Amino acid sequence: KYVSVVIPAAGLGKRMKSKINKQFIKIKNKPILAYTIEKFEECKYVDEIVVVTRKEEMEFCKVEVIEKYGFKKVKGIVEGGKERQDSVYNGLLAVSENCDIVLIHDGARPFVSIKNIVDGIKGVLEYKACVIGVPVKDTIKKVNDQLDVVDTPKRSELWAVQTPQCFDYNLILKAYRRLENEQIHVTDDSNLVELLGHKVKMIKGSYDNIKVTTPEDLKIGEVILESNQK
Ligand code: CTP
Ligand code: MG
Repeated sequence: KYVSVVIPAAGLGKRMKSKINKQFIKIKNKPILAYTIEKFEECKYVDEIVVVTRKEEMEFCKVEVIEKYGFKKVKGIVEGGKERQDSVYNGLLAVSENCDIVLIHDGARPFVSIKNIVDGIKGVLEYKACVIGVPVKDTIKKVNDQLDVVDTPKRSELWAVQTPQCFDYNLILKAYRRLENEQIHVTDDSNLVELLGHKVKMIKGSYDNIKVTTPEDLKIGEVILESNQK
């Protein structure tokens, strides 16, 4: 099976409040996006990688990340869109024609493990659609616009979804095609597959696989890196 990876890295990183886009911030002297790509480069089951960036960052990404770290599996860099879902769609359209399985992974999740990646690929072979996630640690409350608590779902039934989100290529492409004709807004890829009525399997990942989102995540990231090196 031919395995492609789409890495959306075309956001603005507003919550990071940094001058440079968060995926290019360095942790221990290496850009976050380089850590992310490296994991897929190292995984022997991955055949190619498509990186999605903002137009004005494509050249920087090519020179300072892909060429600098010598990544061989990166087939191309494509331009992102307004929302994450638009960026992912552009990436999905840019993978090789013979793609069987696609993994979608946030550029801002540099601590993904090879095990997470392999588990995701195996999950597709069995279920066609799966996501990596972890049981939530906090109790989650549902609130309305006025912040009144309206519901407390049972914690044991709640999982926080991460990436990679992993799919049979034709299935995810069909799911994404709906965006062409319908106004749908989703914050993760599997939601579109659920909307098609197809089952999605949750696969347990690790709490290390954080999304670098706010400034304190950079400090947490340093600690995760150090513990991984031991
Ligand atoms: N992303 C993207 N295209 C967009 C928006 C987001 O490719 N139009 C990517 C981000 O680069 C990131 C991933 O999707 O790797 C997850 O999004 P998020 O953590 O929300 O990143 P940003 O949108 O960049 O950050 P913020 O929401 O704080 O602005
Ligand atoms: Mg965002």
